[in-house]
Amino acid sequence: MSAWNGAGRRIHIQEVGLRDGLQAEPRFVPTADKIALADALSRAGLAKIEASSFVSPKAVPVLADAVDLFTGMARQPGVVYSALVPNLRGAERAIAAGVDEMNLVMSASESHNLFNLRMTRAQSFAGLMEVAALAHRHGVRVNVSLSCSFGCPMEGEVAQQEVLEWCARYVDELNVHGITLCDTTGMAYPSQVHALTQAVRARWPDLELTLHFHNTRGMGLANLLAAIDAGADRFDASLGGIGGCPYAPGATGNVCTEEVVHALELMGYDTGVDLAQLLTAAHALEDLLGHKVPSQIVQAGRRLDLHPLPAGQAC
Ligand code: COA
Ligand code: ZN
Repeated sequence: MSAWNGAGRRIHIQEVGLRDGLQAEPRFVPTADKIALADALSRAGLAKIEASSFVSPKAVPVLADAVDLFTGMARQPGVVYSALVPNLRGAERAIAAGVDEMNLVMSASESHNLFNLRMTRAQSFAGLMEVAALAHRHGVRVNVSLSCSFGCPMEGEVAQQEVLEWCARYVDELNVHGITLCDTTGMAYPSQVHALTQAVRARWPDLELTLHFHNTRGMGLANLLAAIDAGADRFDASLGGIGGCPYAPGATGNVCTEEVVHALELMGYDTGVDLAQLLTAAHALEDLLGHKVPSQIVQAGRRLDLHPLPAGQAC
């Protein structure tokens, strides 16, 4: 089936603006505003909401209110509420806060793992093994995000084989529910994305596979379409296109949720997301952050948001 014709196929859109987005913002967004935003996004029909991080509040102070956020959100049935978890301490806090899913994080690149998590990849894996065991005992789903799966801003290329080997360890040894292949600093390009997605899909057809793109070099939407063509149906995106890992040099925003939904719906895909509600939330986000967001749909409007003919002009 051609990726150019959506033919009503469901594509799951997972909102990461509250986590990947807000972690890159200097200003602390008050908890009540985060709750209102999370509730608006849930009502708009997003499949999953990564609402915060249970990381060290010293490392990422703007997300220090993760527990209050989780207890304050109005949970919509059918929406999965997830949070990023780097270690056992974070997992204990996440379980106490009632997350549906933990998004464990490790980098496919040794340098980025050392910089971001202050551990080697082998140390991360050993730690996350304990975290996954704890999550399984509590009936909490486990997803693993592999940062820098398409390239590392410090090491350069990350070999496809390397990424597949880490996937194998997480799927086969840790029995994780899902894997997210992250393009942390926008180094991915469409043919590379197609090849890796196809390889993962072929080897683990039942795995919940997510692709996580940043639009740092303008290839975000092209990468997403390449992944759909290779069999992916689940993507992270960030309202307004905000975001970026504070521990990855040169990181900028994620692919933008409203741009992705706008494009996919035009192509005949079913995202389950109400674009009008999403746009209302995206406009409100600029006030919340105190600056413009990268979203081109916020700036230009939808394709058929028409302008009046300037006065005195004949057709
Ligand atoms: N939740 C709450 N507190 C935590 C924590 C967690 N998940 N993980 C560590 N801490 C605490 C430690 O107990 C320590 O507290 P103390 O100073 O009162 O003793 C403090 O945070 C500092 O810990 P740190 O020196 O950073 O080392 P660490 O090995 O305990 O933690 C990390 C390492 C990577 C977990 C931590 O630096 C972190 O959370 N970084 C943020 C990574 C991130 O969000 N990256 C972007 C997204 S990919
Ligand atoms: Zn990211």
